Formats: sequence, structure tokens, C-alpha cells
Amino acid sequence: MFFAMDDNKIHHFFDRIWPLYEILNHIITLGLDIIWRNVMLHVVKDGIGAEERCLDVGCGTGEMTRQLARRKRFPMRVVGIDFSMPMLRKAVRRNSENTTYVMCDARLLPFADCTFNLVTMAFAARNLRSENSGLTNAIGEIARVLVKGGRFINLETTQHPSQLTKTLIGIYARIMVGIIGRLLRGSREAYHYLYTSYREFYSIHELANIIHSSGLSHVEMYKVMGGLVAIHRACK
Ligand SMILES: C[S@@+](CC[C@H](N)C(=O)[O-])C[C@H]1O[C@@H](n2cnc3c(N)ncnc32)[C@H](O)[C@@H]1O
Repeated sequence: MFFAMDDNKIHHFFDRIWPLYEILNHIITLGLDIIWRNVMLHVVKDGIGAEERCLDVGCGTGEMTRQLARRKRFPMRVVGIDFSMPMLRKAVRRNSENTTYVMCDARLLPFADCTFNLVTMAFAARNLRSENSGLTNAIGEIARVLVKGGRFINLETTQHPSQLTKTLIGIYARIMVGIIGRLLRGSREAYHYLYTSYREFYSIHELANIIHSSGLSHVEMYKVMGGLVAIHRACK
């Protein structure tokens, strides 16, 4: 099934959920999102050089951006981009050294060709699928701003290979979304959207094909926790 959602609506959802976004994420995933980000940082670390310039796409409140900039051995300059001003404001308020935030659309990046050695994206790919070519355009832009040999690393939920696990996750997510919807009436639709976008996102192989056909090569994929989430790594 193809998931279609109006872009303005997605924008509006993130503009609404920013105050509790991080804490609710930790609650809904039972803290697993923290572990998943750490796994991603390990993949980032593998092959990292000195003086890297990194772009974090769909950085939201900057949870990943700050962790990337905090690397001690090879400090990086990290630019976080997002199209939601309230999410970015929260990121800026907790700004740390070596980070800069820019408000823009991931499908039209305001950077010159070959600017970054590394581009990361955590839990944003799902939201770029609102239009047929949204995700392809965004990865095309990522390929454009990467230097030759630069790396793209993406962390995203994926379709779990076991039907039973998928059904159990579906039941759990519906219950959690129901509870949050009752507690935070204003954000009910937004959390419902986050759940449906998760349920209908690509499989690990489909996403690898999209990354490849959008202009990147040497696409590798890693299942984390048996396929609850996936990390894709690709090169320009
Ligand atoms: C689920 S949040 C993930 C945030 C953060 N990366 C994290 O790990 O918590 C997805 C983010 O992508 C942003 N986003 C969605 N579509 C976008 C687009 N077309 N351009 C820029 N940012 C976008 C949203 O505003 C939101 O902050």
C-alpha cells in the first residue's frame, strides 16, 4: 500500500509535537531509540576521518546532531537541517559546540555540491515519502552535497521479517498511540500519522534499492535487533 500524506500536514504535525517529542519517543520505544542511535554512532565511527564535515538531515530537536558533534577522537562540524522551526528552536536552545542549524527542506538543500564528507539521517526518511518522488529527491540532494567517496548513513524503522513480530508491534503501537491520543488531544492525529507511516514504510531491501537508484553506490544494510530498525550505509 502506498502511504500518501500532504506535505503541509506533516510539517504541521512536527510543528505541534516538538515539546514532548523526545520524551514520548523514549517512552513509546521503551528507550530502544537511544540504543538504536548508539548503534548508528558505531557505524559512523567505523571509517571516520579527521576534520569531517557532517550534515544531519531531518535533525528535529538535534538529538543525533549533538551526539555526532560530541565525538572526542575526531571532532566534526555538524550542520543539522529541518523544515520545522519549533523543532529547530529546541535544538538551538540545547546547542552544543561544533553544531549549526539551518531551516530548509531536505529536497532542496542550500549547500554547494561536494560540501560534506558524511550525511546522516535518523527517522526522517519515512516522512520524505509524502510525494511519489520525495525520498528519491532528498537522497539525490544528499548525493549532490557529498564529496566523492563521502558516506551516507540512514537509520529508520523497517518492515520486520516476522509476521508475528509485525502484528505484535502493530498492536503495541496502536495501544500507545491510543493512550497518547487521549492524553494529548491536540497531537492525536500527529501520533496516528507516525504510527501509520511506520507500518507502511519500505522493507530493508526496497529502501536499499531506492538509495542506489537515487545516485549512491556500495549500499550496505544492517538489521538492528532482528529487523526492528535498519541502518543503511552508502557511498558517493
Ligand atoms: C521523526 S523526526 C526525527 C528527528 C531526529 N532525526 C531524531 O532522530 O529524533 C523527523 C524529522 O524530519 C523532519 N522532516 C520531515 N520532512 C522534512 C523535509 N522535507 N525537510 C526537512 N525536514 C523534514 C521533521 O520536521 C522532523 O523533525
